[in-house]
Amino acid sequence: MSMAPQELENSASKYASDAIKADSQGAYGMAISGYQNATATLMKLMRLYPDSKLNQIYTERIRAYQNRVKELQNTRAGNIEPVLDPNASPEEQKKAIARAQPKSDDSMEDLILKEKPDVKWSEVIGLDDAKKALKESIVFPSKRPDLFPLGWPKGMLLYGPPGTGKTMLAAATAHELDGYFIVVDAASMMSKWLGEAEKNVSKLFAMARGYCEKEGKPVILFIDEVDSLLGERNSEVGGEIRAKNQFLSEMDGVNGKGKELMMYVIGATNKPWSLDHPFLRRFQKRIYVSLPSTEAREKLFDLYTSPLKKNSRVNSLSLAKQFDGYSASDIRDVCQSVQMEVVNELFRSPDYREPIAGEVASMPRELTMMDFKNIKIKRKPSVSIEMVRAYHKWSDQFRAL
Ligand SMILES: Nc1ncnc2c1ncn2[C@@H]1O[C@H](COP(=O)(O)OP(=O)(O)OP(=O)(O)O)[C@@H](O)[C@H]1O
Ligand SMILES: [Mg+2]
Repeated sequence: MSMAPQELENSASKYASDAIKADSQGAYGMAISGYQNATATLMKLMRLYPDSKLNQIYTERIRAYQNRVKELQNTRAGNIEPVLDPNASPEEQKKAIARAQPKSDDSMEDLILKEKPDVKWSEVIGLDDAKKALKESIVFPSKRPDLFPLGWPKGMLLYGPPGTGKTMLAAATAHELDGYFIVVDAASMMSKWLGEAEKNVSKLFAMARGYCEKEGKPVILFIDEVDSLLGERNSEVGGEIRAKNQFLSEMDGVNGKGKELMMYVIGATNKPWSLDHPFLRRFQKRIYVSLPSTEAREKLFDLYTSPLKKNSRVNSLSLAKQFDGYSASDIRDVCQSVQMEVVNELFRSPDYREPIAGEVASMPRELTMMDFKNIKIKRKPSVSIEMVRAYHKWSDQFRAL
């Protein structure tokens, strides 16, 4: 019998936590072999359970461990004399010395996208409250700071079920501003940087402030899955508490002495209940990004069926009524699946052949209401009623618009 997945995970976790400890004490050789054992164990786990939902997380961790090993190997190489080939030309010897120098820390830049997202307000369907709150607290103050002598909120938390537009909203806000949009995913920040999460939280804020001061333009720091900063996962990352505290004091900086800076922090989470009071207090606006209303679902069906060929009886309003409880991204997936079905039908039909040059290509038949009905049987909404209830309950207590 092979080991149970939980046992394997625990053993990987143990290897990694020992490695991190060794790493922080400067015992790099031990750290390297610990990370390598952790990697091997996770790989074994993934081979045994190729369909596990956790594999993406494991892959990320493996990458983190491997990167750290590489960094450590570089650092070590920098501490010892490079091995020089006495027969090599001086040019080549110089190159060997340069290769042996420790690499500068560029892992931060990896996680950050600074390009301007191309999402407009009008493309975000529904969510009028959320849009209004973001406009009021980010767009207006950045255009007319003189109208806000008492300051304005800098921390905003978007919470709600998956696939409802949190990331889109943050992107649309950034699109509206002439400024910078820095996106980091807190979960990979915590695992990627291992024990260094704390240091990197402060580097991240310093970088955002830097852009703000240097260019005098607004900066939005978007932290996705912000709940992972609290690190309630049974995780090997030792610095979680320190990382969280660092985050809290950075937020105080943004709200306090950095007041006149146009720097905003938007956090997004699916698990608002895992955030504690000190954390919540620093996000003055807490905005619920809900499942779409019937009206919003109608617009979503309009949007996603508009490029599709459909029967004249296909009606967005009646689809909206049938697909109660589906999120915006569910609706997009439904429309995509319906189209896939008719395309499959076309390819499977005995008469189908590839169009020859100059010939009109054969096309799938028109979509009907029946096609949507059939998909609905196969695709359940990704958010359960109990989950929606939990969000409402949390909102009643903590929402702040
Ligand atoms: N309000 C919306 N209007 C239009 N499309 C939407 C909306 N919400 C979601 N979508 C569609 O679903 C996709 C996923 O949305 P998004 O990434 O913004 O969800 P999210 O709330 O951030 O989810 P998660 O919590 O899983 O990160 C979008 O790229 C878009 O295609
Ligand atoms: Mg998102």
